Amino acid sequence: MQKQRVFSGIQPSGNLTVGNYLGALKNWVAIQKEYENYFCIVDLHAITVPQDPKVLRQKIREVAAIYLAVGLDPEHCVIFRQSKVAEHTELAWLLNCVARFGELSRMTQFKDKSQKGGADSASAGLFDYPVLMAADVLLYNAHLVPVGDDQRQHLELMRTLARRFNHTFGDTFVVPEAMIPPTGARIMGLDDPTVKMSKSSPVPAHYVAILDEPDAVRKKIRRAKTDSGSEIKADPERPAIRNLLDMYSAMNGKSIPEIEAEYEGKGYGDLKKDLGEVIVEGLAPIREHALELLDDPAELDRILDSGAERARKVASPVLRDAKTRMGVE
Ligand code: TYM
Repeated sequence: MQKQRVFSGIQPSGNLTVGNYLGALKNWVAIQKEYENYFCIVDLHAITVPQDPKVLRQKIREVAAIYLAVGLDPEHCVIFRQSKVAEHTELAWLLNCVARFGELSRMTQFKDKSQKGGADSASAGLFDYPVLMAADVLLYNAHLVPVGDDQRQHLELMRTLARRFNHTFGDTFVVPEAMIPPTGARIMGLDDPTVKMSKSSPVPAHYVAILDEPDAVRKKIRRAKTDSGSEIKADPERPAIRNLLDMYSAMNGKSIPEIEAEYEGKGYGDLKKDLGEVIVEGLAPIREHALELLDDPAELDRILDSGAERARKVASPVLRDAKTRMGVE
């Protein structure tokens, strides 16, 4: 029986965090043998906000190294750069003509990201971000999209566009489904547990990066914001403790009630100390392996190029079909 397809991606911007690991990467590795996987480094999404070209080139390799270091196996996964498969941008244009201005205006990520400078000065690319994302997935007729909780709305739009296209032009695309992990899908900032942990934060104490040194990880967790009260309980009124418990549970697989029971009578300090170790245990081998891989950039580029070639073989006939149906081929 043919395996179902999985597609997902990460932007090569900022420093990949424990949020990206728990919300996305860890689950990609867990399911890779069951599916035919396409894991993309979405550099064209990264440039929807200003990037330094030199840094961007380096970050692309860094993400590739992290993909491999977490355990994604090129035997099971096609690992590639979005910009190397031109079909993504071409299908995005076709889907731009199916998507509606009003739909894109309602995307909360656009509203959040454009808040600082105002929507008037945000790039048109940032506004169009979800359409390119829909093209990414529909191009491979992927069934499943493993992502964190913040991508729900983008996934809904992607499904809407697939259905609308199919309805207007005939059955063309698989309507994909989001695959969101039960724990770790929304890791919050260490300095502010009311906002999602973001890899592009300018404040290093906001996140644990996958490539942070073990001592930095311990220190960041020790200094993470706490809420009032000392009991180790996942109380919705206490977002800081909730976040620490979520990270603990997603990192080592214990359920939150189990962890609560273990820490009965203990305090925040104990929990933070152990959580620091749990995270170091999970991330340190990944960091070491990624740094080794980064010593051989030519090999990383080779893997990405061969991935792009494999991706193009799947993407190209799907794009041609969509164009034919729209009358532009
Ligand atoms: P990006 O790079 O912002 O995030 C990459 C993945 O990490 C997840 N994530 C989190 N999970 C838990 N807690 C957090 N604090 C956290 N922060 C990020 C995200 O949900 C995501 O799964 N738009 C996508 C990139 C993309 C994509 C695609 C994804 C482009 N095309 C096609 C899937 C399919 C994004 O947000 O990337």
